[in-house]
This record gives sequence, structure tokens and C-alpha cells, in this order.
Amino acid sequence: MNWRALFKPSAKYSIIALIIVGVVMGVVGYFATQQTLHATSTDEFCMTCHSNHSLKDEVLASAHGGGSAGVTVQCQDCHLPHGPVDYLIKKIIVSKDLYGFVTIKDFNTQAWLDENRKEQADLALEYFRATDSANCQHCHTRIYEDQPETMKKMAKRMHERNAKQEGDKRKTCVDCHKGVAHPYPKK
Ligand code: HEC
Ligand code: HEC
Ligand code: HEC
Ligand code: HEC
Repeated sequence: MNWRALFKPSAKYSIIALIIVGVVMGVVGYFATQQTLHATSTDEFCMTCHSNHSLKDEVLASAHGGGSAGVTVQCQDCHLPHGPVDYLIKKIIVSKDLYGFVTIKDFNTQAWLDENRKEQADLALEYFRATDSANCQHCHTRIYEDQPETMKKMAKRMHERNAKQEGDKRKTCVDCHKGVAHPYPKK
């Protein structure tokens, strides 16, 4: 190939054309990926690998599945970020699960979950801590300011006090609220 041709005026257009084609493909690719990612974020998708785990039943039995408001919170509402970029990054991390699924012996059994619950729960909690429980706050928007009248006095007091804490002293939702969807293991 004659590289000098790239800088000739006639070749310039083809480079511009290539860039345009590239951008178009990038945009199309981006939306296609979003669609795929969306499809891969339903409870059903999560439960394809976790099908023998009691996770979904636990959510349904909790306030997040069986509450009086008729809301069933989806796995992704709590476990996946809402911004597209963070979402992609987390998805890539989650894709390690594919490797785990193939390599961890007896992974998709209730016995495995019971056995490894504490370790898995703490891994999951790491994510919530790293994001200041952003997913919880996505729905629970009025915990620290403008608290609802109906909120228990004790809850109000705890939340108000926590909101005033600075730096490391300030706790995140899951520091005080463990096991809001699955039973948090004691040991
Ligand atoms: C390809 C199979 C597969 C799919 C699909 C899958 N998981 Fe998992 N998941 C695993 C495996 C394997 C582990 C154990 C990972 C390990 O310890 O290496 C795991 C662990 C977890 C953990 C605990 C560990 C951690 O890092 O937080 C959570 C939470 C979790 N999965 C949530 C989900 C959610 C939510 C979905 C749906 C968006 C989902 N999983 C879909 C295979 C899967
Ligand atoms: C998709 C929205 C949504 C998300 C995400 C969500 N919640 Fe909730 N949560 C609710 C709703 C709705 C209720 C009330 C259910 C009812 O009682 O009718 C609730 C109830 C609660 C309660 C009171 C009931 C109980 O279990 O004690 C606590 C505490 C709570 N959520 C904490 C959390 C935490 C911590 C997270 C993040 C790990 C979280 N929530 C994520 C919607 C959500
Ligand atoms: C310093 C500890 C602490 C932190 C941090 C904290 N909470 Fe609470 N929260 C409590 C206590 C204590 C209660 C009252 C006891 C109970 O109902 O479980 C409570 C109650 C609640 C309730 C039930 C309110 C009611 O009236 O029934 C919800 C919902 C809730 N918290 C959500 C959250 C969310 C979301 C976050 C993060 C933004 C959060 N909390 C952070 C301690 C905390
Ligand atoms: C209301 C928020 C919420 C919902 C909905 C939710 N989770 Fe979780 N999940 C958590 C939190 C918080 C933890 C960390 C441990 C704890 O506090 O119980 C966790 C822990 C886990 C773990 C680690 C093992 C364990 O039991 O602690 C797995 C696996 C998991 N979730 C999968 C799922 C799947 C699959 C779904 C959907 C069927 C789901 N979660 C729905 C909040 C949620």
C-alpha cells in the first residue's frame, strides 16, 4: 500500500468517509449493546445461572418483593449501576461470573450457596460500599433530607444523625441495613 496516498487530497475524503462510517457503526454498536445488556439484566437472566438458588424467593418474601405497595424490586435495581458507562464496566466485571459458573464445582446448587453465603454476601456488600449504596438511594431518595412524616421516629433520628457525620464516620445504607432482600448470614 502507498501510505503517501493517504495524505493526497483525494485520499483525504476517503479518510473522512471512513471516520464517518466508523462513528456511525460505533453509535449503532452502542445501542445494540445497550439492547443486549438490557435483555441480559432481567431477573430471568440472573436466574439462568442462579436457578437452583433461593435468591428470587428470598426477594419475594422480603419487603422488597412482598411489600404492601405492590412493588417487586428487580435484581438489577439493586445490583447493577444505572449510568450507561458504569453499567458497562460492572457488566464486564460480572462477566467473570461466566468463568466462575464453568469452573466452580456445584455452583448452581443450594448447598453451594448455603456454604458460601457469607463470602458472597460480603463481596456483594463491597460493591454497595464502593458506590455509597447509590442503587438504594435511587429509590429511597428521601432518607437524609425531606424525610417523610410517616417515617418512624427512631429511623429519622438515626438517619439525621448519620447525615451529619463526616468522612469515614458516615455510614452507608448497607452498613446499617443488611439482609434487606436475602437473609444476611450470621457467620
Ligand atoms: C453466567 C452465570 C451467571 C449469571 C448470568 C449471573 N450470575 Fe451472579 N454469580 C455467578 C457466579 C459463578 C458467582 C460466584 C462468583 C465467584 O465467587 O467467583 C455469582 C455471584 C453473584 C453475586 C455475589 C458475588 C458478588 O461479586 O457480588 C451476586 C450479588 C450476583 N451473582 C448477582 C447476580 C445478578 C444480579 C445477576 C443478573 C444481572 C447475575 N448474578 C447473573 C454466575 C452468574
Ligand atoms: C426499586 C426501588 C428500591 C430499591 C432499589 C431499594 N428499595 Fe428499599 N424499599 C423499596 C420499597 C418500595 C419499599 C417498601 C416496601 C413496602 O413495605 O411496601 C422498601 C423498603 C425498604 C426498607 C424497609 C423494610 C425493611 O426491609 O426493613 C428498608 C430498610 C430498605 N427498603 C432498604 C433498602 C436498601 C438498603 C436498599 C439497597 C440495598 C434498597 N432498599 C433498595 C424500594 C426500593
Ligand atoms: C446509622 C445507621 C443507618 C443508616 C446509615 C441508614 N439507616 Fe435506615 N434505618 C436505621 C434504623 C435504626 C432504622 C429503624 C429501625 C428499622 O425500622 O429497621 C431505619 C429505618 C429505615 C427504613 C424504614 C423506615 C420506616 O419508617 O419504616 C428505611 C426505608 C431505611 N431505613 C432506609 C435507609 C436507606 C435507603 C439508607 C441509605 C440512604 C439508610 N436507611 C441508612 C438506621 C440507618
Ligand atoms: C433490595 C435490594 C436487592 C434486591 C432486589 C436483590 N438483592 Fe441480592 N443482595 C442485596 C444486598 C444488599 C446483598 C448483600 C448481602 C445482604 O445484605 O444480604 C445481596 C447479596 C446477594 C448475593 C450474595 C449472596 C447473599 O445471599 O448474600 C447474591 C448471589 C444476590 N444478592 C443475588 C441476587 C439476585 C439473583 C436477585 C434477584 C432475584 C437479587 N440479588 C435481588 C440486595 C438486593
